[in-house]
Amino acid sequence: MLIKKPADIASSEITPRGLYLSRRAFLRGAAIAGATTLGGGLLGKLASPWEQASAGTKIDGIQKSNFSTNEKITPYKDVTHYNNYYEFSTDKEGPAGLAKNFRTRPWTVKIEGLVSKKKTLDVDSIMKLASPEERIYRHRCVEGWSIVVPWVGFSLSTLLKQVEPLGKAKFVEFTTVYDPSQMPGQRERVLEWPYVEGLRLDEAMHPLTFLCFGMYGEVLPNQDGAPLRLVVPWKYGFKSAKAIVKIAFTEKQPINTWNKATPNEYGFYSNVNPNVDHPRWSQARERRLGEFSKRPTLMFNGYGDQVASLYSGMDLKRYF
Ligand code: MTE
Repeated sequence: MLIKKPADIASSEITPRGLYLSRRAFLRGAAIAGATTLGGGLLGKLASPWEQASAGTKIDGIQKSNFSTNEKITPYKDVTHYNNYYEFSTDKEGPAGLAKNFRTRPWTVKIEGLVSKKKTLDVDSIMKLASPEERIYRHRCVEGWSIVVPWVGFSLSTLLKQVEPLGKAKFVEFTTVYDPSQMPGQRERVLEWPYVEGLRLDEAMHPLTFLCFGMYGEVLPNQDGAPLRLVVPWKYGFKSAKAIVKIAFTEKQPINTWNKATPNEYGFYSNVNPNVDHPRWSQARERRLGEFSKRPTLMFNGYGDQVASLYSGMDLKRYF
């Protein structure tokens, strides 16, 4: 049996999470205070926006949301150490370590295409467009696992309204970052890079569609999509693009990365649907991370009351 020596035990294992985080915040504060006596140059460095925005920094003023589920939240460790993020690795345990030093500042998001006011916005100014909200959403991956996460952000529509979409705009395309020097997975052609996703305009403007920059009350860890990602809770997880750098309004339906890679397996809509199987497996059940037995998957991931009307009259087997 492996016995841990005290030096091997992380403080996170022996201290309740809240306490150990506030101790980290205290230590950061102490480092900044120490830097004041050592010289202003170092203080300037530590207090840069990059330092303030790093994963694990507490987000202040978070409001609770009526859209939240009251289901049991999946443990932080499971959500942050079992990720799909092919830019870093195809192995789900890989992104947590490989994305650790990924630089999320400076970061801008270009908004273009069929809009009256094209803009390039700094991520920190985007985060200030509205008060941060906590949305506890179910999140179902197409591969059959699911999680319940307290995401932090606000409705994507808050940002999209800023640019005044034109009447001709029917879809919104999301392009994510391309930086093979930092993302080892992009040095291989496992997928076509950059990762692209898309939504119909009404889906993008739906109040449930969430622009996310935090989770569990803190700035997003890099492996979960920092600095800015989507969360579309009634669709399979691959629609929720991470590390977004461009949003374009289009007339034509965007070609999303997974649809391009395997069109018979991954569609454009990708609404969670237990009645439409993936060609290689059933979608009827799912396993929540941290649980042993499977549970039935719900139509639209349980968000049917809010979103089913977006698809009335559509054949969801054809438009999968
Ligand atoms: N976004 C980018 N840029 N690259 C990816 O590989 N994977 C998608 C989605 N967003 C992916 C991405 C898939 S398949 C899923 S299931 C979710 O991210 C996983 O999100 P999570 O790691 O926060 O659970």
